Amino acid sequence: MLKDQDRIFTNLYGMHERTLKGAQARGHWDGTSGIIDKGRDWIIQTMKDSGLRGRGGAGFPTGLKWSFMPKESDGRPSYLVINADESEPGTCKDREIMRHDPHTLIEGALIASFAMQAHTCYIYLRGEYIREREALQAAIDECYDKGLLGKNAAGSGWDFDVFLHHGAGAYICGEETALIESLEGKKGMPRMKPPFPAGAGLYGCPTTVNNVESIAVVPTILRRGADWFAGFGRPNNAGTKLFAISGHVNNPCVVEEAMSISFEELIEKHCGGIRGGWDNLLAVIPGGSSVPCVRGENMRDAIMDFDYLRGELGSGLGTAAVIVMDKQTDIIKAIWRLAKFYKHESCGQCTPCREGTGWMMRVMDRLVKGEADLEEIDMLWDVTKQVEGHTICALGDAAAWPIQGLIRNFREEIEDRIKAQKTGRKSAIAAE
Ligand code: NAI
Ligand code: SF4
Repeated sequence: MLKDQDRIFTNLYGMHERTLKGAQARGHWDGTSGIIDKGRDWIIQTMKDSGLRGRGGAGFPTGLKWSFMPKESDGRPSYLVINADESEPGTCKDREIMRHDPHTLIEGALIASFAMQAHTCYIYLRGEYIREREALQAAIDECYDKGLLGKNAAGSGWDFDVFLHHGAGAYICGEETALIESLEGKKGMPRMKPPFPAGAGLYGCPTTVNNVESIAVVPTILRRGADWFAGFGRPNNAGTKLFAISGHVNNPCVVEEAMSISFEELIEKHCGGIRGGWDNLLAVIPGGSSVPCVRGENMRDAIMDFDYLRGELGSGLGTAAVIVMDKQTDIIKAIWRLAKFYKHESCGQCTPCREGTGWMMRVMDRLVKGEADLEEIDMLWDVTKQVEGHTICALGDAAAWPIQGLIRNFREEIEDRIKAQKTGRKSAIAAE
């Protein structure tokens, strides 16, 4: 279990003051200008060496992403955009940072923006995050008052402004290019990539979009060193990580742990075990609703990191939102609910996603009721394959993968329901 002194988020549960004074007492904003004095190359290299992979779900190496930003200005301003549009079902980790530890995010924003030559940072907040906006705005106001933001921010010689932008509740605006469109005042519809935002992002200018947690860990990594951070987790899966555990555990929670912790340890140490015991575990979605579910018996010894969950279990760490389902769950209905969600949130721009999410949801509807024919299971699988990889943004994949996970892991249960329904229908007809 992660030791208290190794935690980056020291106020995850809001037990301490989240004000600037409280944050400083916990070590934030300590020697920020000294870090900046070490220069851009040092900061970016340290981030690369730390092995931090983006915490928004995709796991792209953060230092590498920063290095895509232009070294020399061609006259266009550069921007840092922080993706706080946390909307992946099951995911509620960034919320805790913004509510209780907002200063580490703002300090991280200053350092990251300096490293990428950005004088302006936009934080794009999920529409429903009203309290988080209030907490963040209060922290930003304090920083302006004390000279940590604005001209010569924190005495670093770098002029830096932070603006909050409140979204309106569309899941798709968490996709980085849809987010940029929305920030520009347009309808939130994803753009084709490439160009990636580092080449042409906000207002056509070089832009890096990073997740809240990715930026909030930056100051501590730079203070304690790349080796310290890289010392947690297996190679290629470094660091500490916020896990948001929900569903049928005795104590659902958000917790910071070392990467590569085992699923069993995570659940036993922090969640008081599975409701009804381990024999009652049916399935787990280990990384937010976009990744395939895994059968419970395969999860107990699972290593909670990017490579294990994808490589060994065909799932993913995603946002590390761990959704636990016990044997009282109707797993077909649970995945149907996700299919409904993705259909609702599709922006409708590309045909495989617009039409495919509707098809998938309608067949899932029939599977839940057991009204489908057995052949429809394979047909549904084919539809997911035609959506996956054929769309402008990852929402198409995100809609396809949970259904693929269901069919791969729970085919027997789907077939049993169809057979039972058919037998029931036949006996009802015979009885007539
Ligand atoms: P992606 O893999 O396309 O990109 C990840 C990041 O790396 C992006 O910032 C992208 O610009 C950058 N990148 C990738 N290849 C690059 C290249 N060749 N050159 C320059 N930059 C490059 O994934 P995407 O679409 O950004 O995110 C999908 C993930 O988001 C899903 O895995 C899902 O788990 C997660 N997600 C998280 C949500 C949340 O609430 N946190 C909501 C919805 C999805
Ligand atoms: Fe829109 Fe879906 Fe296409 Fe993404 S995949 S651009 S959400 S229609």
